Amino acid sequence: MRKTLAAATSLLAAVAGTLVAATPAQASGPLKEHAAAHGKYFGDAVDTNEIADAAYRPHIAAEFSQLTPGNAMKWDATEPNPGQFSYSRADEIVDLAQQNGQTVRGHTLVWHSQTPGWVQNLDASALRTALQNHISNVVTHFRGDLYAWDVVNEPLNEDGTLRNSFWLQKLGSGYIAEAFRAARAADPDVKLYINDYNTDGMGAKSDGMYRLVQSLLADGVPIDGVGFQAHLAIQYGFPSQMQQNLQRFADLGLDVAITELDVRMQLPSDSTKLATQATYYRNVTNACLAVARCAGITTWGYTDKYSWVPDTFPGEGAALLVDENFQTKPAYTAVHDALAGGGTEDTTPPTTPGTPSTSGVTATGVTLSWSASTDSGGSGLAGYTVYRADGTVLAQPTTNSATLAGLTPSTQYQVYVRARDGAGNLSTASATTTFTTSAGQASSCVVGYNTSNWGGGGGFTATVTISNTGTTPISGWTLGFTFPSGQRITPPGWSATWAQASGSAAVTATNLSWNQTIASNGSIGLGFNGTYTGANTAPTAFTLNGTTCATA
Ligand code: XIL
Repeated sequence: MRKTLAAATSLLAAVAGTLVAATPAQASGPLKEHAAAHGKYFGDAVDTNEIADAAYRPHIAAEFSQLTPGNAMKWDATEPNPGQFSYSRADEIVDLAQQNGQTVRGHTLVWHSQTPGWVQNLDASALRTALQNHISNVVTHFRGDLYAWDVVNEPLNEDGTLRNSFWLQKLGSGYIAEAFRAARAADPDVKLYINDYNTDGMGAKSDGMYRLVQSLLADGVPIDGVGFQAHLAIQYGFPSQMQQNLQRFADLGLDVAITELDVRMQLPSDSTKLATQATYYRNVTNACLAVARCAGITTWGYTDKYSWVPDTFPGEGAALLVDENFQTKPAYTAVHDALAGGGTEDTTPPTTPGTPSTSGVTATGVTLSWSASTDSGGSGLAGYTVYRADGTVLAQPTTNSATLAGLTPSTQYQVYVRARDGAGNLSTASATTTFTTSAGQASSCVVGYNTSNWGGGGGFTATVTISNTGTTPISGWTLGFTFPSGQRITPPGWSATWAQASGSAAVTATNLSWNQTIASNGSIGLGFNGTYTGANTAPTAFTLNGTTCATA
């Protein structure tokens, strides 16, 4: 039943493929359509619980031309007990793919992980028999339904040597060739891949893969392709020379494929990380597009709602193309635009934002808002930059308002706004708005200071007036000032408790009980006798309770 469907759908896919190739893909088309225009598939890894999600199913059908079961074809799913094969979960995914006209990559036959204990505990000869039996049964079951099999998964260490798995320990390095031969015996047509991670760029591990594949080919082992998982993380950098790396495997006469692409980051995500992630996705896409034998790209999931990353890498996530609510992320746009071809490079800036209006002006802050820009260039509005007239950046909000803090009191600001899109295009500047911050601490006191020097010199009398220019009474006060030229008060002074520490130029005068209140618009007088040498220069700054007063 399924086979008939498969034949019918692959015919349909072939016809659709011709149509797509003849007609340029629509700029806004789904990923699979743009990939097909390059003769490549665009795929998704799914599990049965995920394809049951009614919110997700339409996206799977719309965007992808290929599916990989994320877990359902692994040994622990297909042969949990010796000789007891169970295909229901995998069949569900294959059936969905066939309904959608999608191809399926089988994942995976021989792996050190997600393989039941009973397999791992077998002795060498029983393990060899189990390997043959497993591959024969599973590959036969899906014969005609799959595009490719990941026959052997993750056989390498980071240094490029063979991983010391139970397979290697018990069967020796020949287990890899045996697995490929068993798979070919069960299905002469399906493409047979070897698959690994951290082999995406040039390096010791991909060199090891290259040597391994060369030796398999030299031994006449039936291998058709090399899978590059591409589980990337923005904090580790982009793999070096990915395109050249794919190309050297292609030059061995093999297909290559990006099999498990995701790009994780340390949470929380932010616009900078998402933009970096988008460049990684774009680079991977471009690398595959640049290599004729790159068959396609499979992302290891589509929505951040379903991803293996948070469970496997604590504190990391946001690795996929759309968020938990299926809203596209910059990564989606990057992949889409890379697949849609250079012709859609976004050079269109957003429209000019409206003139900023101000509200809530204080001594150090203001709130600005402006009418929003729109963007038609395809990379979407990313946010705004608020500038001062001299070009200083004051804020970079993602929405059309900004609250500025840390401004200088009593200062005129001229500000304007430009919008930015996801490709970095800047709009022209909005009109400029001018506002002035209010005075720092609104001074509500004025101090008068007058001296008369005594005839022979050295002695003086100072009369001080404190006026409350505020609207509320001052209740309890300490006046402070600093002598500028070595003067000293001669205690006790009058109408206040006067103090000047020895060796210090700072003077304080604190109220007495009878003059502790200075009424609004009221004044009080106080004074002292003092000594001076040279010039008896008046203090220039006075504070009342720590706040600067104006000088009369
Ligand atoms: C992951 C699955 O996505 C998880 O659900 C599961 O718990 C662990 O395996 N390399 C592979 C995939 O080849 O099979 C792995 O899939 C991810 C890493």
